[in-house]
Amino acid sequence: MEDLQPKPGDLSPIETASRDEISALQLKRMKHSLQHAYNNSPFYQQHFKDNGVHPDDLNTLSDLSKFPFTNKQDLRSTYPFGMFAVPQKELRRIHASSGTTGKPTVVGYTQNDLDIWAEVVGRSITAAGGRAGDMIHNAYGYGLFTGGLGIHDGAERMGCTVVPISGGMTERQVTIIDDFKPRIITVTPSYILSVLDEFNARGIDPKDTSLAVGIFGAEPWTNAMRQEIEQAFDMHAVDIYGLSEVIGPGVSMECVETKDGLHIWEDHFYPEIINPETGEVLPDGEQGELVFTSLTKEAMPIIRYRTRDLTKLLPGTARSMRRMEKVTGRSDDMIILRGVNVFPTQIEEQLFKCESLAPHFQIELTRDGRLDVMTVHVEAAADSADSTTREAAAAELTGHIKDVIGVSSKVNVTEPGKVERSLGKARRVVDNRPKT
Ligand code: DLL
Repeated sequence: MEDLQPKPGDLSPIETASRDEISALQLKRMKHSLQHAYNNSPFYQQHFKDNGVHPDDLNTLSDLSKFPFTNKQDLRSTYPFGMFAVPQKELRRIHASSGTTGKPTVVGYTQNDLDIWAEVVGRSITAAGGRAGDMIHNAYGYGLFTGGLGIHDGAERMGCTVVPISGGMTERQVTIIDDFKPRIITVTPSYILSVLDEFNARGIDPKDTSLAVGIFGAEPWTNAMRQEIEQAFDMHAVDIYGLSEVIGPGVSMECVETKDGLHIWEDHFYPEIINPETGEVLPDGEQGELVFTSLTKEAMPIIRYRTRDLTKLLPGTARSMRRMEKVTGRSDDMIILRGVNVFPTQIEEQLFKCESLAPHFQIELTRDGRLDVMTVHVEAAADSADSTTREAAAAELTGHIKDVIGVSSKVNVTEPGKVERSLGKARRVVDNRPKT
């Protein structure tokens, strides 16, 4: 793999600013953002009044804890445009997240919002080791999902050549990578595994491709998965995080030279970690739910938005801004099995210990009498598909899950190609328990 280090001039001054400078900028912007939300969004004005607070009550950054949280339900109940703080004619773009249930959540951008978004995505690509002139194969989905267009604009703005292939048509992905020779790929970690299978099926060694860096996000993935991808492609694999409600991809990004969690672009997005049960703000270093307040957004300012993503805040390393640890999972995806909390990422970690298994998996929940049962459906590796090897692999994974996570599970090792594939975000948990 290439040794990738930032060069002088690669970073914007705020990325290496002192903590004091960052905090001063945040306070100034936070006051403005609260005022903007209060003055221009009837939703926020009412929400603040209902909770007995006014933007003038914020004198320090920690005063933010006086303000009420917002959540997905607020976006749903004001569907489609009720959280916006500018008239529709000021909007240049609308995106929406499909959501698994109910109405989609709708977000909007002014021109200034789009410029900031492109700036933070450009900063993220630079942190990944990208530079002007690179060709980027962008396999995040285009459309209402923020992944495709969000990466696209940021990549163009920093001077890259974008191949807007979007997700799907895996055979064509491989042909285009082989022919166009991009240096960077942007895609979900679960979908790169399908692309990898296709390389192998065609007899092309993925190590021989032009790819030097992969920028993976939009769903949780583990360091074990990073190793697998890096080895298979002989390229760097780094993590990008974001959510539509806050802006889209580019809220935080892992730096290629350290790969130690994701630096949050704190000059635009202010993070807090809270105890998900009590709402209490937790000190840096403690695990909890990530909450964001936008500092510069115009069309849809977002104040104390509960992401449901579980992680912790850590001090900056390669950049001055704080890092968040790789996301363990969403609280919605947490399985509680006989009192033990289980996240799909924990299963992923165990699965990579088993040589005869492929990394495609899905967790099914069923009920047996009054007991919940977790079955991990996982594929045998291509050279391990005979029944004896599959049985041994199932026993091995069941053992790891019991020893490390502490729960009993069933493991169903299928033939290669039998586990549901995604073209974007993988559906890791299927709940087939009877609805009561
Ligand atoms: O997934 C934005 C995005 C696109 C991020 C492309 C990175 C790359 P949404 O569809 O609104 O936006 O989904 C946001 O996805 O709250 C997390 O639960 C999850 N997520 C996003 N990035 C990561 C990541 C985009 N790197 C939701 N690790 C978030 C773990 C992630 N989970």
